[in-house]
Amino acid sequence: SWTMASFVRNSVEEIRSTVGDRRVVLGLSGGVDSSVAAMLLHQAIGNQLTSVFVDNGLLRQDEAEKVLALFKRHFHMNIRFARARAQFLAALKGVEDPERKRKIIGRVFIEVFDSEARKIKNVDFLAQGTLYPDVIESRSAFGGPSAVIKSHHNVGGLPRRMKLKLVEPLKHLFKDEVRLLGKELGLSDDMIWRQPFPGPGLGIRIIGEVTAKRLALLRKADAILLEEIKAADYYRRLWQSFVVLLPLKSVGIMGDQRTYENIAAIRAVTSDDAMTADWARLPHELLGSIANRIINEVRGINRVVYDISSKPPSTIEWE
Ligand code: XMP
Repeated sequence: SWTMASFVRNSVEEIRSTVGDRRVVLGLSGGVDSSVAAMLLHQAIGNQLTSVFVDNGLLRQDEAEKVLALFKRHFHMNIRFARARAQFLAALKGVEDPERKRKIIGRVFIEVFDSEARKIKNVDFLAQGTLYPDVIESRSAFGGPSAVIKSHHNVGGLPRRMKLKLVEPLKHLFKDEVRLLGKELGLSDDMIWRQPFPGPGLGIRIIGEVTAKRLALLRKADAILLEEIKAADYYRRLWQSFVVLLPLKSVGIMGDQRTYENIAAIRAVTSDDAMTADWARLPHELLGSIANRIINEVRGINRVVYDISSKPPSTIEWE
């Protein structure tokens, strides 16, 4: 649209005059906000932008590969890919408490990001895909829940420790405007309409301790769920849809063998802003095919349940 085209022109000019010939580092998660911010900065300053993608091992199936394929190979961005799976898993070993998991994931993220950012010469700026609602919430006295939520993801200590100046080219925009901007900058609808994914990722979608084995189970089940939700054309109608792994054993039967395996919970909600949410009235046939596929295709899960709780009083995530 005309408005977005002129927004792009003005932003590009502003970014260029702010940054000059220095370098900018950005944490690319593959979510809508950081992706659109990366596209805008790349248009403005090309290879002066280095994006850091942290593979924390808590991502959805094929996620890291998809982000690299799009931004590095397709858009030719300068990307540092930090393989940190082992580091995150080691730090999470034996940890069951959800808030401790969040803190650990946040801390390791900062350590990994920080050490990548230090490898970039002449870096003066840290770019973030902060939106207008994030700015408002972090300024209000109480902070909104998402101010707390975003706190770990905002690579908090970095700018001070590394003395980086912040560049926040989306800070006057609302989510719907960011989507329009993303489209204007050449991102696909698939990318622009991605459901939100929490920073701690699959780490808070395994109840209790996070292990490599549990992650592998959850990743498979979650991929099946998404595939079915997309095929049934429900993806965009849902605020979020995902699987939670309950490492509780229940009895099942497979052929003439008894099984004693994990439970997968399906969570699908509609919402406008995540402050309130309603469980999605998914068709029974769709739920049935998701459950059948998960139980048949994921060895280690022998039971699937559907979460019919709304927020409040329940939350969207289980941890
Ligand atoms: P709840 O579970 O509180 O979630 O209803 C509301 C929204 O926030 C997301 N969420 C998080 N996002 N870090 C994030 O970046 C977190 O620790 C976190 N916890 C929850 C959740 O996915 C939902 O969209």
